[in-house]
Amino acid sequence: MDRRVAVLGTGKIGGILLQGLLKAGLSPQHVFPTVRRAERATALAKQLSIPVGTDNRAAARQAEIILLCVKPQTVREVLEEIRPEVTPDKLLVSVAASVSTAYMEDVLQGPIPVVRAMPNTPCVVGAGMTGLCKGKHATQTQLETARQFFDTVGRTVLVEEKHMDAVTGLSASGPAFVYIILESLAEAGVKVGLPRDAATLLSAQTLHGAARVALETGDHPAQLKDAVTTPAGCTIDGIMELEDGKLRVTLIKAVVKATERAKELILER
Ligand SMILES: NC(=O)c1ccc[n+]([C@@H]2O[C@H](COP(=O)([O-])OP(=O)(O)OC[C@H]3O[C@@H](n4cnc5c(N)ncnc54)[C@H](OP(=O)(O)O)[C@@H]3O)[C@@H](O)[C@H]2O)c1
Repeated sequence: MDRRVAVLGTGKIGGILLQGLLKAGLSPQHVFPTVRRAERATALAKQLSIPVGTDNRAAARQAEIILLCVKPQTVREVLEEIRPEVTPDKLLVSVAASVSTAYMEDVLQGPIPVVRAMPNTPCVVGAGMTGLCKGKHATQTQLETARQFFDTVGRTVLVEEKHMDAVTGLSASGPAFVYIILESLAEAGVKVGLPRDAATLLSAQTLHGAARVALETGDHPAQLKDAVTTPAGCTIDGIMELEDGKLRVTLIKAVVKATERAKELILER
């Protein structure tokens, strides 16, 4: 947390990570965030009470760790811009979907340590999930350094790079899928007569609690589901409706589609 960190592309996920790192103890004097538009830089600087710039090269020059948070289609442009400042003693950590470490190493044209990470928006409350892998010039220690960063805003898992698009489709897109489930359960509560506020709380805390039990016990989800499902009770009737509505296969297809899409983003200009 005493490292100097540039955050290039302080948009939704860059902003979340920056705020998480500041909350975790990174010194505001040691962060160098950038965005594309000057007016956004001014607004963000006011909101975060730290300087925010538009000069990626200057930010990269001052940093030991460069956190790249721009859209996949903008990665090449930004890497070419900062290339003169990115020396092998620095670490580039990219959260861009779809962009491989080999692609970034190629653009940087040198033995630059690169780590690819795929976080998600719940990092904003310290409940994020981040998958990480390293490029060919990064050491295990540098991968560990990147991991420690993301550990401050949630959980982390090291995966082989071939799985990064799957991580994108599951845990990075996943919050959007889960919010739809959360909203639908709340709507269901309203349908059966609950006040909306209570229905939303019941829904959100139920998802939170169920996820926590799965994480803390390590029990198989099917076993946890069975514990709720009393023979001839009401839960089994609800489960029959879910199976009839193909909830499982729909969720599987959603993750498969998002994973496939993650493979394509880098191909777009
Ligand atoms: N959102 C997620 O849940 C999530 C999760 C994991 C990974 N990611 C990845 O994170 C990346 C950003 O996604 P996002 O959702 O955060 O998008 P976003 O909100 O649109 O943020 C992109 C940011 O990049 C800035 N930018 C654009 N061109 C730039 C340049 N040349 N130099 C410096 N900054 C530049 C934009 O500046 P302005 O503000 O001035 O437009 C904006 O702040 C993507 O590659 C995505 O795959 C996103």
